[in-house]
Amino acid sequence: MARKRVGVLISGRGSNMAALIDAAARPDYPAEIALVVSNKAEALGLTVARAAGVPTAVVEATNRAAMEAAITRHLEVADVEIVALAGFMRILSAEFVRRWNHRLINIHPSLLPAYPGINTHARALADGATRHGCTVHFVTAEVDEGPVIAQAEVPVLAGDTPEMLAARVLVEEHKLYPRALAMVAARAG
Ligand code: GRF
Repeated sequence: MARKRVGVLISGRGSNMAALIDAAARPDYPAEIALVVSNKAEALGLTVARAAGVPTAVVEATNRAAMEAAITRHLEVADVEIVALAGFMRILSAEFVRRWNHRLINIHPSLLPAYPGINTHARALADGATRHGCTVHFVTAEVDEGPVIAQAEVPVLAGDTPEMLAARVLVEEHKLYPRALAMVAARAG
């Protein structure tokens, strides 16, 4: 079976992107990372992608329509079939989401539908939640909504700070995202 070509969109550290690149290095993985696009030239993830030999592009337009048009051009030139958001901090338009309908996925650090948006770990702690985790989902026009592909759960422990909880969730993110992308790649037309 031909491996699906994946474009990863990042804005920063890129540790989830790195987990996807590592997974795709296995010959039996159903996807390859064809391109990494960042909306920040200084994103650490770009250095990681380049070191792994993955082609990169930077799109720094501030205007959303111009940014999305440039991203789409890069993705099309690279023959990308699936787009994976990995810490991409811009909200995408309904038009972009439609263009990549059912082929655009995101990882979010909470058990959606709980805690969409930012500061998920601090909010879970403030609520006294006993369980927390991460979700990979298809992206729809609404932020952090859309059909869930897979979730991983972690316990909230006594004495947790947001940073401690985030670190525990991140370990699961790095396992969950490659697994979820493989599921999508194996079934996408
Ligand atoms: C992750 O926690 C991810 O779930 C969220 O933003 C963070 C990005 O981290 N969407 P990284 O850039 O993948 O290291």
